[in-house]
Amino acid sequence: MTADIQIPAILKIGAGAFNEAAAILPRLKCSRPLIVTDAFLASRGLAGKLREQIAANGIDSEVFSGSVADPTTEAVDQGVRAFVDGKHDSLVSLGGGSSIDTAKAICLLVANGGHIRDYKVPNPIPASGPPHIAIPTTAGTGSEVSRFTVISDSATEEKMLVAGAPLVPTAAVVDFELTMSMPRRLTADTGTDSLTHAIEAYVSRRANSFSDAMALSAMKTIWEQLPIAFHQPDNRSAREAMMLAATLAGMAFSNASVALVHGMSRPIGFFFHVPHGLSNAMLLPAVTQFSAEAAPARYAACARAMGISSEQDADAAAVSKLIEGLFRRNEELEVPSPRRFGIAQERYFEVIPTMAKQALASGSPQNNPRVPSTSEIEQLYREIWQ
Ligand SMILES: [Fe+2]
Repeated sequence: MTADIQIPAILKIGAGAFNEAAAILPRLKCSRPLIVTDAFLASRGLAGKLREQIAANGIDSEVFSGSVADPTTEAVDQGVRAFVDGKHDSLVSLGGGSSIDTAKAICLLVANGGHIRDYKVPNPIPASGPPHIAIPTTAGTGSEVSRFTVISDSATEEKMLVAGAPLVPTAAVVDFELTMSMPRRLTADTGTDSLTHAIEAYVSRRANSFSDAMALSAMKTIWEQLPIAFHQPDNRSAREAMMLAATLAGMAFSNASVALVHGMSRPIGFFFHVPHGLSNAMLLPAVTQFSAEAAPARYAACARAMGISSEQDADAAAVSKLIEGLFRRNEELEVPSPRRFGIAQERYFEVIPTMAKQALASGSPQNNPRVPSTSEIEQLYREIWQ
């Protein structure tokens, strides 16, 4: 079976890449970009700096700062209006996964019309949109290289997964210097999101040799470097390694798909506004424990790549060490359970059936080595409550 790999046409990686982002626009023959960012980054001046650099290339741009955490259909609609009203021909997203995901959804609707709901997995995306340059400021969601966007639909109470090659940004600018000021919690959560991407891509039923190489390299780095970046935020080499690993993990999962952790994580994010990486972290050890029996060799390979287990360990021992290591890592990174996060118990248990239904419908659990039933997903939600 051949693998169909999709990655951005242009990747700029390394310290100072941000300063070279504007020069990509003339290469793509773009003359009227819309910068998509959030209010925080706009107020911090980073969007203004980007705008100045774009102006220095003789190009006029505007800023749409309406991207929000857990991007909504409303925020996307506002962005589409800004794009159309401003007669823009391209997008430059600047921020965490939310800004990049918002820009992807704008791209999709500008080219295809309709409502974002119309393109929810498994529906296809017919046409490619305008050029999109993605500049992540976290390490990270991997959204800068992936063919996914996740948009919350307030009308149907769902975090929708939308997937397709047209969503892969045209260019990704991966500059770790933008992540140096990330607070501890964000560092831990986005880093664990990346680790989850790498592990899920590797154990996915849709894994291939390209995604495997990216995933193994990413998980090794993230396992070593995330605690360093967490405890020593000014450590440049840890930040640099994490940023590259997040992008590699993004390429891995984009080309192999994520699995049960992500499927179950989105509904927790929608209903309780738990940051994406944190809800992944709440789930990763328990879901790994549930899934490992179906692919012990794959999980054992993760443990060996991450240095949790030695080459001499048999698969079963390596898998045990992996599960134990993931639980321990959550303690080190101060990951709360849903209960400790402050979620209301009654509401959590009330929506478990809906969350399980949405998780299954997203398609991600079907990529898991052990494909769960609805009641098994419900049981996992109960198990992580604590
Ligand atoms: Fe993710």
